[in-house]
Amino acid sequence: MRKKKHLEEKLARCVNLIEFPPVTKDYREEIKEKAYLDFSVLFGNDHPVQMEIGCGKGRFITELGKREPGINFLAVEVNRSVLCSACELALAEHVDNVRFLHLGAEVLAKYIPPHCIGRIYLNFSCPFPKKAYENKRLTNLRFLKSYKELLAPGAEIHQKTDNMHFFEYSLEQYSLAGYKIKNVSLDLHAAGFEENIMTEYEKRFTDLGQPIYRLEAYL
Ligand SMILES: C[S@@+](CC[C@H](N)C(=O)[O-])C[C@H]1O[C@@H](n2cnc3c(N)ncnc32)[C@H](O)[C@@H]1O
Repeated sequence: MRKKKHLEEKLARCVNLIEFPPVTKDYREEIKEKAYLDFSVLFGNDHPVQMEIGCGKGRFITELGKREPGINFLAVEVNRSVLCSACELALAEHVDNVRFLHLGAEVLAKYIPPHCIGRIYLNFSCPFPKKAYENKRLTNLRFLKSYKELLAPGAEIHQKTDNMHFFEYSLEQYSLAGYKIKNVSLDLHAAGFEENIMTEYEKRFTDLGQPIYRLEAYL
């Protein structure tokens, strides 16, 4: 996505929904000290927290927020313009249990207190097909290990993708990282998964007739 016009003004209108944590110069760059977010301050209550990493324009998390008012949702996105679109959607839909975090998945453990995330959603994460970028895939072993620090006991990762190779790769990485897998679907829409929420990318690929792959991973 190209940089939005008047981006900072637009972001300022959503300021109550966005958290811009202290960073050095890049939203993927490690900071030295931990700077844990206080969820009860961020959300104004102590409801359980779930997280989507790479939320895109926010269609999924906004709908999920509406469906699950008793859960707080943290939507993580590294691209500032995309993040802005997601915030604008949540604002327009009057969703009050979703907050947005402008950060890369690489540094989440510096900001999220350990073992307090009830579920992580990875929806259509970039597959980065070239081997040279393998370590950027959000199901790469290094990420799966770091998610272990975030996940609460009994928590799960729910992943969807249109990319068969990325799906196979992810299955392998979950196994290497010690996760177990359940509820695998190789064609989600044919399987009639009623509670499914379409993401922007999911709609795009579904309209092209491509099957959607889905799994749930747990420790
Ligand atoms: C292919 S899009 C999918 C968006 C949305 N989840 C959907 O299904 O429509 C992937 C998104 O992940 C974001 N992303 C990629 N790498 C990331 C990272 N390391 N940390 C946080 N977000 C990331 C991208 O900026 C992009 O918005």
